Amino acid sequence: MGRVIAIANQKGGVGKTTTAVNLAASMAATRRKVLLIDLDPQGNATMGSGVDKYDVENTAYELLVEQKPLQDVVVTDTNGKYHLVAANGDVTAADVKLMEEFAREQRLANALKPVLDHYDFVFIDCPPSLSMLTVNAMAAADSILVPMQCEYYALEGLTALMDTIERLAEAVNPRLQIEGILRTMYDPRNRLANDVSEQLKAHFGDKVYRTVIPRNVRLAEAPSFGAPAMYYDKSSTGAKAYLSLAGELIRRAEQQKKADAAAEA
Ligand SMILES: Nc1ncnc2c1ncn2[C@@H]1O[C@H](COP(=O)(O)OP(=O)(O)O)[C@@H](O)[C@H]1O
Ligand SMILES: [Mg+2]
Repeated sequence: MGRVIAIANQKGGVGKTTTAVNLAASMAATRRKVLLIDLDPQGNATMGSGVDKYDVENTAYELLVEQKPLQDVVVTDTNGKYHLVAANGDVTAADVKLMEEFAREQRLANALKPVLDHYDFVFIDCPPSLSMLTVNAMAAADSILVPMQCEYYALEGLTALMDTIERLAEAVNPRLQIEGILRTMYDPRNRLANDVSEQLKAHFGDKVYRTVIPRNVRLAEAPSFGAPAMYYDKSSTGAKAYLSLAGELIRRAEQQKKADAAAEA
């Protein structure tokens, strides 16, 4: 069964989409079967995967509102070697329509159920807001991965986000966990970043990934070439960091499996 990980932070510009695209590609490069779901009407993860958002037949709108089966809306030939549910402006309409509908929080969870066996990892790129789309992501996910920049107000934002996640989880998905906290656009020469990073570790312990994503211009350039960084410049520090993050997620998942098995025995 695939593990479903929502990449979320209500703040914009923290590296959610960059993480979604590059983590999905890195996982696929380790021969895992990966599905990436773009839930942001901006469609940045779609474009960054080399799929033209203005020219896709189906998007998350068809999946969530028209309830077309996932295998009918998925794009299988992306530049990241993963499968993609695309997004574009239509997905804004999905957000509005879902508000009026019955069992609207569980649309994505229900859509994923029949295909979970086909994937090892499902990543969801969330919009930077607490919309019906984000609620659907939280309801469908096993866990949440939170990218954040180590800035002055980051910890406050994070505490607010954790409160929101807890409240949402109670309402729509009691088994939802925090997968991990990822430090993005990190500059080790910046003292404030180091301070915030230490506070983060003190507060959230081993939920903070060891892997740090550095600020790297290749990560910012790659989307305009419609490809994850590892296919644009595989020797870049950004591409390497996301490969290392994929390794860390895999190791954690294996440790978790062992712990679960031991607890059962
Ligand atoms: N590690 C990084 N180094 C350099 N630029 C980055 C990095 N991560 C993200 N960016 C750039 O920062 C901007 C915001 O990132 P993005 O992933 O779109 O954030 P979000 O999805 O949270 O809004 C984009 O222009 C992106 O290319
Ligand atoms: Mg984004």
